[in-house]
Amino acid sequence: MRLGILTGGGDCPGLNAAIRVVVRYGHHRGVTVVGFRDGWRGVLNGAAHELTEEDVRGILPRGGTILGTSGTQPSLIEGGPDLVREAIGVHALDGFIVIGGEGTMGTTAAMPDVPVVGIPKTIDNDIGGTDASIGFWTAAQIATDSIDRLYSTAESHNRVMVCEVMGRSAGWIGITSGVAGGADVIMIPEHPFDIELVCRRIRRIHSERRPFSIVVVSEGATPVPGTMTLPEYALDENGWPRLGGIGRMVADEIHRLTRSETRVTTLGHVQRGGSPVAFDRVLATRLGVAAVDEALAGRWGNLVGIRGAGIATTPLTEIGAQASLVPEERMQIPEILCG
Ligand code: F6P
Repeated sequence: MRLGILTGGGDCPGLNAAIRVVVRYGHHRGVTVVGFRDGWRGVLNGAAHELTEEDVRGILPRGGTILGTSGTQPSLIEGGPDLVREAIGVHALDGFIVIGGEGTMGTTAAMPDVPVVGIPKTIDNDIGGTDASIGFWTAAQIATDSIDRLYSTAESHNRVMVCEVMGRSAGWIGITSGVAGGADVIMIPEHPFDIELVCRRIRRIHSERRPFSIVVVSEGATPVPGTMTLPEYALDENGWPRLGGIGRMVADEIHRLTRSETRVTTLGHVQRGGSPVAFDRVLATRLGVAAVDEALAGRWGNLVGIRGAGIATTPLTEIGAQASLVPEERMQIPEILCG
C-alpha cells in the first residue's frame, strides 16, 4: 500500500508525533508513506517525497510539522479536486492520511471520492468526533503556566491581569486554563459576557477577598448584544475573521468601570509552539496507528478519534455538524469557585 500524508490548517504541538508513527508503523505494516508539503497545497502542486525512517528520527518531541502546513482548501479552488485525483495517480497512492482541523476536514469531506482517513488536530479542541484533538492539552498547559505567572505579578501590584487565550468558537482553552489556574473571571465564546457583571464581580473580589484578580478571555468571546461593541476583524484567506484584540478592549472597559489598574497579556501563537505534553504525544501516536489500520482495512472517509479509553471513527461528512463546544454546565464550576 502507498499512503500520502499531509498536515493542514494551523500547526500545533503533536503533529510530528503523528507523522512519525504513521511512517514507522506504516513501514512495519509494509506501507510506503509519501509526505506532501504544506497541506493540500503540496498535493495540488506536486511537492512530495517518500518519507524515510531518517526523516522522522528525533521528531517526537518537536513542535510544528516537518511537512509544513497551509489552509489551502482544494474544494474552494477551481479544478482543485481534479488535481487531487491526478496526484493519486501520479504518486500511485491508495489514499491519504490527513491531519487537520475543521477546515481541512471540511474540504476533504467535500471530495468524497478521494480516499482519506482523518486525524483531528487543533489547539481549540473544537472538532467533533473525538474527546480531544492533538495539540489541545499542550496549549491548555501553556495557558495555565502563563496564568500562574500572571497571578504572582498581579498579587505584587494589586492589578487586574487580563489574559487573552486562543479559542475561535470554542472556549476549551479558556475554561480549562482558567479553572486550572484559578482565574476569577472566565469569558468564552459559548457564554456571552456582560462587562458590567464582570466588573461587579471584580469589585466584590477586591473588597471581600484580595485586591487583585485574573481574567481569562477567549479570543472569540462575545459580549451580550448591546453591551459592548467589538471591532471589525479582517478576514483570512478562507474568509474567517482574524481574531485577536478582545483582551485589550476588555481590559480598557474593566479599568474604566472599576478604576483598578489593569494589564493585558495576549498569549497568541505561543500557545501553538514548542514541545507537546505527554498526553498529546500519546494521543498522536494512538491516532496515527489507528489511521494506518483504517487505511489497511480499506475503511476510507472517516476521522479517527478517542472516545473514553478507546478509538472511535466518525464519517468525515458528519464532522462539520458535530463541532465540540463547552457545555453550559461546565461554566458552573467557575461560577461557584469564582462567584
Ligand atoms: O488553530 C486554531 C487557531 O489557533 C485559532 O484559535 C486562531 O484564531 C487561529 O488558529 C489563528 O491562526 P493563524 O494566525 O495561523 O491564521
